[in-house]
Amino acid sequence: MPGAFTAPVGRPSRFIVLLLFAVEVPVLVACWSAKGGVGTTVVAASLALTIAGRSPTGAILADLGGDGPAALGLADPTSPGLAGWLAAGSDVPADALRRIEVETEQGLAVLPRGEGRLASHRAALLANLLDVSPRPAVADCGRIRRADSAAGIVAGHARRSILVTRACYLALRHATRAPLKPSVVVVVREPGRALSNGDVESTIGAPVVAVVEVDPAVARAVDAGLLSGRLPRSLGKALAGAT
Ligand SMILES: Nc1ncnc2c1ncn2[C@@H]1O[C@H](COP(=O)(O)OP(=O)(O)OP(=O)(O)O)[C@@H](O)[C@H]1O
Ligand SMILES: [Mg+2]
Repeated sequence: MPGAFTAPVGRPSRFIVLLLFAVEVPVLVACWSAKGGVGTTVVAASLALTIAGRSPTGAILADLGGDGPAALGLADPTSPGLAGWLAAGSDVPADALRRIEVETEQGLAVLPRGEGRLASHRAALLANLLDVSPRPAVADCGRIRRADSAAGIVAGHARRSILVTRACYLALRHATRAPLKPSVVVVVREPGRALSNGDVESTIGAPVVAVVEVDPAVARAVDAGLLSGRLPRSLGKALAGAT
């Protein structure tokens, strides 16, 4: 995993960021992208599964993108999901979140997206509830186009904001124009790309904490709905360092 948790010679600020990233506290981590289809959902779901596997309280995956259950091989949820919770007035109790959870056998509770648009007026409350939850939470915020969208607000409030990107010119171009600045970056690396982690870091201005290889075994696991059953080795290994 080149570039991740390497010796922090002469880079004290990066070292501090990596140390904070390694601390096991149940906080909200948001995964998002600046360009669609880069692998954000796979990274978010895998990160949530990895955290759930070693957290005594399990973990939460808040799926604002909408592909979480399918990526995990779960049936399509019928609950109003986060769209319903976000659309509700302030009289709806915060613990209504519990009622929309879908449990997996791996100790991961999924908060499905639900249908319709994601209203933004309760997005900060959602982020705060997830952040103070006794269960660590990962939010899949998908592609963020506006900081004031529900996904943008959740990612903006997250203790750790992870930009998932390919190491390619077009993806980095989008990232530099993104409405948010990430705290760290996860690179989904395709073979043959010329851009290095250093190029990504200097372009985005945040450290690369994990490199996930584009691996046919990952694509097959997602297509077969088997991601939650057994995380492909390349994913588990790469993300172990990013939690
Ligand atoms: N590490 C990987 N190796 C191989 N295939 C991958 C990997 N990560 C993701 N994929 C595949 O790439 C496709 C897009 O992945 P994913 O849905 O996670 O991207 P996304 O960034 O969440 O997309 P969207 O912007 O539509 O939400 C899927 O077919 C998935 O199976
Ligand atoms: Mg997605």
